[in-house]
Amino acid sequence: MKIAVVGTGYVGLVTGTCFAETGNTVTCVDIDQEKVKKLQNGKITIYEPGLEQLFERNLKQGRLAFTTNLKEGIEGAQIIFLALPTPPGEDGSADLKYILKVADDLGPLLKDFTVIVDKSTVPVGTADKVRERVAKGAKVEFDVVSNPEFLREGVAVEDFMKPDRVVIGTNSARGRKVMEQLYQPFVRQGNPIIFMDERSAELTKYAANAFLATKISFMNEIANLCESVGADVDSVRKGVGTDSRIGKRFLFPGIGYGGSCFPKDVQALAKSSSDVQYDFKILKAVMDVNADQKTRLIPRVKEYFNNNLKGKTIAVWGLSFKPHTDDIREAPALYNIDLLLEAGATVKVHDPEGMENVKKLVGSKIQYCETPYEAAEGADAVFIATEWPEFRTPDFEKLSSLLKAKVIFDGRNLYDLSVMKELGYAYYSIGREVVHG
Ligand code: UDX
Repeated sequence: MKIAVVGTGYVGLVTGTCFAETGNTVTCVDIDQEKVKKLQNGKITIYEPGLEQLFERNLKQGRLAFTTNLKEGIEGAQIIFLALPTPPGEDGSADLKYILKVADDLGPLLKDFTVIVDKSTVPVGTADKVRERVAKGAKVEFDVVSNPEFLREGVAVEDFMKPDRVVIGTNSARGRKVMEQLYQPFVRQGNPIIFMDERSAELTKYAANAFLATKISFMNEIANLCESVGADVDSVRKGVGTDSRIGKRFLFPGIGYGGSCFPKDVQALAKSSSDVQYDFKILKAVMDVNADQKTRLIPRVKEYFNNNLKGKTIAVWGLSFKPHTDDIREAPALYNIDLLLEAGATVKVHDPEGMENVKKLVGSKIQYCETPYEAAEGADAVFIATEWPEFRTPDFEKLSSLLKAKVIFDGRNLYDLSVMKELGYAYYSIGREVVHG
């Protein structure tokens, strides 16, 4: 099939590349000329494991192309995906200006029956709005379908290629048929395509993300309670998660969830609810808990250094909001770095992928180090903000020799308490006993 993808952010680029990989001809459209030039020249613009290889291959074989020209990009396309940003507006609702602008532009450009697909996470009712806007200029028939993405950054290619499910919202038999055909290669293993109406599909995306965020915030509260009552959250997590009704995943406590989806989607769902006079009480609690959780370890750090961080150096390991991505949007690390700097500490950081993005945002207020050990050299403590695999089994002997004192504040519960005790570290984590070193 011939496909166009409008928007070449994380979702658009993964979507376009993966559809090309299954034999479709894909043209990606973006208004950012510099980005498009890079992509045309074979330079990938995001870090996503496995994507570069697919991108290069499909580009070389002519199944993947890039343009800034919408008219040219959608020429002959049977399906047009809208993978555009929906940033939160001032009141927390998703801002649809990019999507609706493209919908306006698309109408007059359509030459034949086309399926227009909302891929972006959009509030309930957006498909109707897009339909209205396209209809104003269109002279041919078209369908608007909702097809939310459930891609986790860092494993987006795998999630795209082997989805747990594909959700398609459409009441049109014609649109359904086209989408079913397109997704066949991805559901061969038997995972379902779930068809529903547009509004239900739009809400499914928010419900899934809000539920996962709730799971995390719930477990973070259990962890906090563990600290107060002397229980161990690792044991509680295992005890709870092995109940198949609950499930093991997304029960890991830490310094909160971040990223481009959970914070934004929970907020947007709360706003959509209040717009229809529904008071979604749980969501407010989820957001409150997460806001506090992000900097949960800072009082511990201050307490440890007798409320005086002036002259102290903290090595922050991890900047990205989670491992295997360079994405630092809403990353808990940034909130902690701000507070450490505010308290007068010197901050040295290391992250395998996120440093360039942090440099652009934070600049020279902090020191950037090539390795976790370089960050630890001469530091008074290590602060772990992201669970990159390389932080899981450091050379503790080397680390101990580099640090001024053996102190770790671990926002991701990476180490066994028994190991920390044996090594003589002062070790603070989330929902577990404090090891005094
Ligand atoms: C999420 C959804 O998983 C995906 O389906 C959706 O389409 C986009 O949003 P993503 O934001 O890439 O994906 O990351 P995810 O792996 O879901 O993690 C989100 C946040 O939750 C991260 O900050 C992570 O550190 C945190 N998290 C996750 C926890 O704190 N504990 C957990 O047990 C799991």
